[in-house]
Amino acid sequence: MRYIKTIALLAAVLLCLSACVSSGISDIHTGSDTHGNTICTSDSGSDGSARPMAPIDMVGKTTVAGTPTYKPTWVYQLDNGIMVREVDIYTGNENDPIEIVQISDLHLSGINEKDIGDAEIMATYNSREWLRDGGGIYYAERVLEYSKDADQIVITGDLMDFFSWGSMEYLKKFVFDKYDNIMACVGNHETAKKMGGRYSKQELITRLDTLQSVWCNDVYYSSKIIDGRVMLIQMDNGSQCDVNGARFWECQIQPLTEDLALARKMGICVLLFYHVPLVTENFSDMLRYEILSGGSASLNFMQNSSLAGGSNADESTLKIYDIITNNGDIIKGAFCGHLHGEYYSEIKAKTADGKDTVIPQYVLMGNPYDEGHMIKITVY
Ligand SMILES: [Fe+2]
Repeated sequence: MRYIKTIALLAAVLLCLSACVSSGISDIHTGSDTHGNTICTSDSGSDGSARPMAPIDMVGKTTVAGTPTYKPTWVYQLDNGIMVREVDIYTGNENDPIEIVQISDLHLSGINEKDIGDAEIMATYNSREWLRDGGGIYYAERVLEYSKDADQIVITGDLMDFFSWGSMEYLKKFVFDKYDNIMACVGNHETAKKMGGRYSKQELITRLDTLQSVWCNDVYYSSKIIDGRVMLIQMDNGSQCDVNGARFWECQIQPLTEDLALARKMGICVLLFYHVPLVTENFSDMLRYEILSGGSASLNFMQNSSLAGGSNADESTLKIYDIITNNGDIIKGAFCGHLHGEYYSEIKAKTADGKDTVIPQYVLMGNPYDEGHMIKITVY
């Protein structure tokens, strides 16, 4: 056994050394914007090249897809079965690293006595076999417990499988009341009462008001700054999906504009979290393979009417898309779910002074598959 451990340790050291040598970089990346503020870098390049900048610790990690020398598409499995992707953001700050965990699509599902008698909810309940009666709790608990000491957990939508008091009860009991370090975006499932049915925008707003009574932050938009180093912004772009397609809201324009101006003034980087991926308008994303599918599943992220900012976009969504893509120098990552797959794409963007850049966009697998999925974001 000791012999096997020695070989494993040697392999890890060799892998780490080869990563450092191949990149030629072993320390923290920093840079300055046009105002002399420190800006941050992430571990992927617009040319798709690998830029591993931190030693890669392979102990207890079994590679499932990709390679640790190119983290955007590397998936590994922990000894406890949870599948993980890693994203490193470098700010040049020497404080302890900040750890942010993304989880997505918990799909907690159930009914309670308040739902009995509501024909729409009961019809949905009876038609949904997947994760019925709290089946998603097992998966949510194991990833949340594993991540509970992170500085922040962000759940990118579809926390509930359908709109019901029972689903909200599970969400409050097993997620929001249990952990105090959670931010959460609304997805398209939380507001779906009659699954697959159409409903009005007014009904949608009423359901969002009801969700707000249990939700851990503003259902439309919220942000926070951690350690004066990184700003996290979560936005709903999923709740209108079943009504009019994936859309942002007009009420998000002002806070987003103000937050990005503040981040720029402070010289800190921004991470975005929303449910439905954005189209990227990037030719390289015309055919992106799902990372775990072995080439059997793919999606066009360049232009796609089912994604946010695509041909279905309304005025508010186009405005938000414009704001995001004109702040490519400070937005260092966008994190989403919805597709129930692991994808990586790069949103075409501009820096403040008009130079071309990209915003890395990470799509995370739904949590109740395999033994749970997460993205571990480390801000150095
Ligand atoms: Fe989902």
